[in-house]
Amino acid sequence: MDVSLNNKVAVITGGSRGIGEAIAEIFAQSGATVVLVSRKPENLVATAKRINESVGVKRVGWVAANVSDPMGLEQVISYCKSEYGFAHILVNGAAANPYYGSTVDIERSAVRKILEVNLEAVQMWTSGFWSAYWKDSTEHATCINIASIGGMIVEEGIGFYNVSKAGLIHLTRQLANELAPRVRVNSISPGLVRTEFARALWENWGDHLANSLPLGRIGEPSDISKVALFLACDLSGWMTGTNIVVDGGALVRSTSFS
Ligand SMILES: NC(=O)c1ccc[n+]([C@@H]2O[C@H](COP(=O)([O-])OP(=O)(O)OC[C@H]3O[C@@H](n4cnc5c(N)ncnc54)[C@H](OP(=O)(O)O)[C@@H]3O)[C@@H](O)[C@H]2O)c1
Repeated sequence: MDVSLNNKVAVITGGSRGIGEAIAEIFAQSGATVVLVSRKPENLVATAKRINESVGVKRVGWVAANVSDPMGLEQVISYCKSEYGFAHILVNGAAANPYYGSTVDIERSAVRKILEVNLEAVQMWTSGFWSAYWKDSTEHATCINIASIGGMIVEEGIGFYNVSKAGLIHLTRQLANELAPRVRVNSISPGLVRTEFARALWENWGDHLANSLPLGRIGEPSDISKVALFLACDLSGWMTGTNIVVDGGALVRSTSFS
């Protein structure tokens, strides 16, 4: 059984920081060639340089693109084709949440943005990779979607973002069915992780939340990247359509009636 990612090419959207950066790092450490995708070139350059230096060999490249732009997808597909000829792993990690408030009051523009980045782009990128690489290949490929435990519960403030993540968990199942047996499609649902994306949550309520969690701390990006590595390699070779919760026990907290 091969638990390394030697000779694999992985594309990671949202790869310039946070959870995507941690996944890029562990994939590169495991032998993969990695292509980071996000919008700001300066962050991509810095992250690629940092990981290449830490691995000690140039394994990480990048393409600046907005995941909701079909031209960006085409650029990434062309880049992987010309540089490596194939892409075996797609991590859909980029997400947006431009709104905090009740779901009945959300503006149309925020609804569209959330669905466009968190759901439509995942379908578009998976479909693009399927057509460009996977459909006519005998090589096995895998797709990992970063969802959220928010997609499984009801919460204040981020309700519509959570709706998009619930959709992503189901999109994962649907694609797993349609793309089998060539492509395995799974999702990871993190709880609160210490990244820029969730800064307002962990800065304001991190200690309180950590104390309420069965495992006693909020998550770090490496808690998620280790599970992404498991889903990317042969250890999970008979898994598709699953949603792995990685949340320090948030979903199994006990309810107190006192
Ligand atoms: N942190 C948490 O507590 C938590 C919990 C559950 C789920 N998640 C999920 O985990 C994933 C990663 O989040 P994170 O916490 O690591 O966030 P983060 O640290 O803010 O990183 C987000 C990444 O996505 C990129 N990005 C954002 N919008 C993009 C777009 N339209 N096109 C291309 N790239 C885009 C960002 O770079 P640019 O800004 O340069 O584009 C950055 O690389 C997301 O799907 C999020 O929903 C996070």
